[in-house]
Amino acid sequence: MTEPPAPDSPAGVSDGFGANAVAASSVVAGVVRRLRAAGCVFAEEEAALLIEAAGSDAELHELVERRAAGLPLEHILGWAEFAGLRIAVDPGVFVPRRRTELLVAEALPLLRPGSVVLDLCCGSGAVGTALAAGASGVRVYAADIDPAAVRSARRNLPDAADVFEGDLYDALPAELRGRFDVIVVNAPYVPSDAIATMPPEARLHEARVALDGGGDGLDVQRRVIAEARDWLSPTGRLLIETSEHQAPATAALFTAAGLHPHIRHDDDLDATVVMGGR
Ligand SMILES: C[S@@+](CC[C@H](N)C(=O)[O-])C[C@H]1O[C@@H](n2cnc3c(N)ncnc32)[C@H](O)[C@@H]1O
Repeated sequence: MTEPPAPDSPAGVSDGFGANAVAASSVVAGVVRRLRAAGCVFAEEEAALLIEAAGSDAELHELVERRAAGLPLEHILGWAEFAGLRIAVDPGVFVPRRRTELLVAEALPLLRPGSVVLDLCCGSGAVGTALAAGASGVRVYAADIDPAAVRSARRNLPDAADVFEGDLYDALPAELRGRFDVIVVNAPYVPSDAIATMPPEARLHEARVALDGGGDGLDVQRRVIAEARDWLSPTGRLLIETSEHQAPATAALFTAAGLHPHIRHDDDLDATVVMGGR
């Protein structure tokens, strides 16, 4: 997890008095105008973050132009806010979504000191990082197939050595088989045909492997669920984010794999998690 940016004086913003204050407010107004013209809905909030991040006027100009060109704000800043934490996110890596906080909320009550957790398809490692921050004495492992995601996760999780690169469970050391008390998964679940309808920020700036769940969106989930029993402890639980309309199909995959599924939905987050154990 990255530290919050140092509270230096941002570009063009000085001591908040007199002429400097006027100059500062005109910088803010100019940035807000540029972002709004480019279609940014939260122009004021984004302007404040970009001004805070920039070390000079020239850098601020460059950051604002990158944002106006459609780069995700989080890739420009190098971090995303998730579950109250600043999570490092490198370019191309999936930006953790607010809805995924449901996965964290459902997993946390299952954890005890000594619990062993796997964040599979970890991306930036946002979920595992939030679990490590929210539960004391847990050991969090993570894995992802995308080297850029693994690099981000290694910056966020408490122990970089616990982040593995590779295809699903193949990435993990064999001695972890049967050891996980909780496996949390936000695998790609967008059906291939629906990728074209996604917002350009996702479609153009996040890796295809982070989004594409195959024909019905469940290809990766199917493989995760089929092998989960081998990696869970006898009382372990598997928790998978899915969409509301895919949830019955995700739950059926749990049942087919010998796991008893429950579907949790949160209207506020527009989030759905299927969870279950033996
Ligand atoms: C939707 S993103 C979620 C990332 C992270 N869990 C989060 O919620 O922010 C899906 C992630 O799954 C990874 N992924 C896709 N296929 C994979 C596979 N076969 N093995 C491991 N990771 C995979 C992608 O690289 C991507 O980081």
